[in-house]
Amino acid sequence: MLIKGNIIHTMTKDAFEILRNGYIYIKNERIEEIGKDLNEKYPDEKVEDYTNQLIIPSFTDLHFHAVQYGNLGIGLDEQLLDWLNHYTFKEERKFEDLDYAEVVFRAALEHVIQSGTTRIVFFSSIHEKATKLLMDLCEAYHITAFVGKVNMDRNAPEYLLEETESSYQGTLRLLEHSEHVKGIITPRFVPSCTINLMEKLGSLASLGYPVQTHISENLNEIDWVKSLHPEYEDYLSVYDACQLIGPKTILAHCVYCTDQEIKRIKETGAFVAHCPTANLNLTSGIMDVKKYLDEGIQIGFGTDVGAGQTPSIRQVMVHAIQVSKVNQMKYPERKRISFSEAFYMATKGGGQYFGKSGSFEKGYSADFLVIKKDPLCEIRKMTLIEELQRFIYAGDNQKIDKVYNRGRLLHSNH
Ligand code: GUN
Ligand code: FE
Repeated sequence: MLIKGNIIHTMTKDAFEILRNGYIYIKNERIEEIGKDLNEKYPDEKVEDYTNQLIIPSFTDLHFHAVQYGNLGIGLDEQLLDWLNHYTFKEERKFEDLDYAEVVFRAALEHVIQSGTTRIVFFSSIHEKATKLLMDLCEAYHITAFVGKVNMDRNAPEYLLEETESSYQGTLRLLEHSEHVKGIITPRFVPSCTINLMEKLGSLASLGYPVQTHISENLNEIDWVKSLHPEYEDYLSVYDACQLIGPKTILAHCVYCTDQEIKRIKETGAFVAHCPTANLNLTSGIMDVKKYLDEGIQIGFGTDVGAGQTPSIRQVMVHAIQVSKVNQMKYPERKRISFSEAFYMATKGGGQYFGKSGSFEKGYSADFLVIKKDPLCEIRKMTLIEELQRFIYAGDNQKIDKVYNRGRLLHSNH
């Protein structure tokens, strides 16, 4: 299949690659080639003609609580620990009920796809059946996903507490699923998991299974971890000692990570999910995202629904740039991130967690968005970068014409 249009992507964080009315040649769900006049080189291929429309990689969301979708926007006057106790745990309890779970998951998945995200890493709840249902639905909607059954065996309401062994066994049963939807080990955060449970999960992680968790989001949370585990030097060391940190680990938030923790994140190749929207909503703090980028750490965005109020990575990109400007205004020695850096994080930065995805290089998964033509862009004779900026900052989901994942059309907006 050939796709024709104005192709824009970021192979590196500092530069856009642009091809005006060029072609993407897709073979077996992957990018085979991009270039001019590929219709002449491959005359027998079917052409999807999006002349003068932007074509960009679809978005990656590294951190989304599918079970919190029903709580969007609710309770955001609270900070993390009160918000969990007053709103979040009560909502997650409802996922014992598979009928309720299915309604919420379908609504969340449809909103995710309409927002242009086709690769996503989900937290579910502690419930094994609901988690399996979410995996099956991800498959049915043809997105690419990791889905984790949450592990919690301490400091939670009775109704969300698991026995250590059954928590571990539940995770183990869900780890293998399919090529495109995989299980992921999901200890909620240190306060919710005993060392015994984290060590058991770490033994699975050391076999090469993926891991996701939260770290250093909120100052009260960090104090709590210190008081639970004074024997460890810092928050990351608790996970590290349990063998939970490696190149397949996603660490959500990292608002207050120390230089030493950042160094260790770099050494292990772990990914960071930057969640600026949620960090604002829960008054958690300002993460110095430019520092992580400049260190060469693997980093992408998380919407962190429901602490984040939107499944749109496009909006999270804007929040990230704006928060980084506040960071620079508050601490002049710190630096803001650029538009291309934010676009890179939203596409290839997070996409790397899934392997070859998030740009249009040869061999990469053919996951992309087609953006509608904007008459004002034509009249104003904008450059393609300006058109992209206008879509990212001032657009909405209605401006997304088509959503493709692995070369397959998932959503069309008419
Ligand atoms: N830390 C532990 N659990 C959660 C959660 O559900 N959301 C966020 N934002 N942080 C957490
Ligand atoms: Fe979260």
